[in-house]
Amino acid sequence: MTRRALVTGATSGIGNAFAKELARRGYDLVIVARTTERLESLATQMRSKHRVEVDVVTADLSTTEGVRATVNKLTDTTRPVDLLVNNAGASLAGWFGTTDINDEDRQLDLLVRAPMHLMDAAIKTMAGRGGGQIINVSSVAAFTPRGVYSAHKAWLLNLSQWADIHYADVNISVQALCPGFVRTEFHQRGEMDVSGVPKWMWLKADKVVKTSLKDLDKGKSVSIPSVRYKVLAGLARYLPKGLVTRIAKRGR
Ligand SMILES: NC(=O)c1ccc[n+]([C@@H]2O[C@H](COP(=O)([O-])OP(=O)(O)OC[C@H]3O[C@@H](n4cnc5c(N)ncnc54)[C@H](OP(=O)(O)O)[C@@H]3O)[C@@H](O)[C@H]2O)c1
Repeated sequence: MTRRALVTGATSGIGNAFAKELARRGYDLVIVARTTERLESLATQMRSKHRVEVDVVTADLSTTEGVRATVNKLTDTTRPVDLLVNNAGASLAGWFGTTDINDEDRQLDLLVRAPMHLMDAAIKTMAGRGGGQIINVSSVAAFTPRGVYSAHKAWLLNLSQWADIHYADVNISVQALCPGFVRTEFHQRGEMDVSGVPKWMWLKADKVVKTSLKDLDKGKSVSIPSVRYKVLAGLARYLPKGLVTRIAKRGR
């Protein structure tokens, strides 16, 4: 039977790589983002290349209407979603305490409220039909204090770990995907200067996605692509205070 995946933030970067890899594996898709032309172009490409069905949802996930339109896709039991990828995200330029609080609210809505609502809808629907899978795109930033962005990602990591344990009984797996630096549009959009980030720290979106899906098959609730980031994330728990302070000072 054909499986269906809903991917948020499918127009670029990690979400785009998820949509392409899942279509390659035969999943029908529901793709969500704000830019209709990019969604339609991806849909046309996936339909002709992989012969899969693709539904396009143009939605701003920092708004109630955008979340509602996406939730409707997840609760439609006539076209059930087997895999939810909560990926859409962005970074706000500027340090918390200096930014506009209304912009911070929108960030909270996009990075916390939207995945919470989509997870809620997915869990309720999946539990009623024998199970399903959820991937929440968090970040290695979740492991250290690096401002509001890392706090949002830590929230998502924590909830994913709990949900994976709690809903195992109804056959629902939840993974927090925690990548390090990935070459996407993310840093440019967030006006981040990444010129000092060494080459070895950069990951490719398609490899990140393949690792995540492999880890999902293995039942891992936390996926950290690449050995180098696994080591860094492991060390993060034992970092000396001076180093934590230096890292924290660079966060937003
Ligand atoms: N790149 C990294 O180094 C990195 C590392 C760790 C974690 N992450 C996380 O990975 C996820 C994907 O980021 P990326 O690196 O792939 O960035 P990206 O290339 O900028 O892609 C972001 C995607 O999210 C969508 N999006 C942004 N704001 C949205 C909104 N308000 N409503 C709906 N869709 C929205 C964008 O589409 P539209 O503009 O068309 O809406 C785009 O498809 C994010 O959650 C990010 O926090 C990234």
